[in-house]
Amino acid sequence: MKSKTIIISNRLPVKIVEQDGQYLLSASEGGLATGLGSIYKKGENIWIGWPGIDVPPERQDEVTRQLAQLNLIPVFLTAEEINGYYEGFSNEILWPVFHYMITYANYEQTYWDAYKKVNDKFADIADSHIQNGDTVWVHDYQLLLLPCLIRTRKPQVTIGFFQHIPFPSYEIFRLIPWREELITGLFGADLIGFHTFDDVRHFLSTASRLSSANYADNIVTYQERQIVVEAFPMGIDDEKFEKFKDNELVKTHIKSFEEAQAGVQVILTIDRLDYSKGILQRLQAFELLLQNYPKYQGHIALYMIVVPSRDSVPQYRELKEQIDQLVGNINARYRTLNWLPVHYFYRSFPIEVLSALYRTADICLVTPMRDGMNLVSKEYVASRTNDTGVLILSEMAGASKELNDALIVNPNNIGETMRAILQALNMSLAEQQVRMRNMRSNVTKFNIHLWVKNFMDKLEEVKTMQASLL
Ligand code: UDP
Ligand code: G6P
Repeated sequence: MKSKTIIISNRLPVKIVEQDGQYLLSASEGGLATGLGSIYKKGENIWIGWPGIDVPPERQDEVTRQLAQLNLIPVFLTAEEINGYYEGFSNEILWPVFHYMITYANYEQTYWDAYKKVNDKFADIADSHIQNGDTVWVHDYQLLLLPCLIRTRKPQVTIGFFQHIPFPSYEIFRLIPWREELITGLFGADLIGFHTFDDVRHFLSTASRLSSANYADNIVTYQERQIVVEAFPMGIDDEKFEKFKDNELVKTHIKSFEEAQAGVQVILTIDRLDYSKGILQRLQAFELLLQNYPKYQGHIALYMIVVPSRDSVPQYRELKEQIDQLVGNINARYRTLNWLPVHYFYRSFPIEVLSALYRTADICLVTPMRDGMNLVSKEYVASRTNDTGVLILSEMAGASKELNDALIVNPNNIGETMRAILQALNMSLAEQQVRMRNMRSNVTKFNIHLWVKNFMDKLEEVKTMQASLL
């Protein structure tokens, strides 16, 4: 049998949705799933992960068979595990702390117990699929203990780990009660990747302070094993977004959208509903503009797509209410009989609609408080095949390190964001084209295929280096 790559992440690239007792598959949202979704289906490769809902034991075989056709292997989680490991430890501790929102963290011991138990469950399932010569690629913060758990079961296997969210500075990370276990859990990997060089720096300094590991350049030595830590800024499937220019459905959406918004400059925002995305601050900047520059009333519109996410976690539910309220206030205050300032959609959309929006919006406003990379900004750029349009991008998003020709803002500075919107609304076509061309050449060159290749090539190089040191 040929060797294969086993991708492991908490969420599979497709999720199960229950409708009238039937289980239907639909694409998962979020950068990890959309980014890797188009590249995993090669050869014998498989992807192990959670299908997104609590499947009762009597229906697990049916789901397993459905997913097997797509080379996907499910890890079934009970309602209790979902609560402790996913909602609890992953999204009430790791997510807020890694995004510097430390006051949101809820350090529950039971969450930690569930996190360990579920990481162990993933390790058992992975173990049953790993064969000699296979490469395992673990993804993201929900599975920080997995590299070590797999290494214990299969000492010789090649393991890569990539984290899709920021790695915070030591002063932040040290707040976590189970910090040493999390760091040493990762040491089972041969290669650890982050989106940016800053994340790498934070990880190296944290690792050396919290464990007996030491490092030189970007190589960590821990218990006589060498682990390489490096930045691999994730790209997107640029061709997929470019090709939509010839798609009939996309063209139809664009036509009806342009007719509906004739004479209005459209500002687009697309995010999961998440406090890390700066949605409230962005609305405030938009409102400030309408207030300070009344001449734009009736001539600009904010299209805001907010994809439901983690709505069983209290902070997410509260944020939803705050967004609903603020959008309601802005619209109630400024709308006219034939103009709506904020077009707010709380749902996900098919890719053809997203593409049509990316292709028609005059401005894309991406202002997270913190974001590992942010793929929406890259998808907007890839979609602008006529080189027009302006990207406004938070300096706190990993993507800002690459997309230097965006208008870069500090998302906490509402006035600065407002001024960037003004600048974008008035930017000459020539300037838009220069900026967009530069950004497009970056997004095209450093695409998802190069990202996977760079990571895999490096992983192979690390194994060769380790072997030469034996
Ligand atoms: N997305 C989606 N459906 C939607 C809206 C967004 O699949 O209705 C995708 C979007 O195209 C992008 C991803 O969700 O690929 C969001 O990734 P990003 O890195 O911007 O943020 P994350 O959600 O990973 O924090
Ligand atoms: C981010 C994380 C992913 C996660 C995604 C969606 O992109 O890095 O690991 O899958 O958000 O979040 P969810 O909790 O729905 O999986």
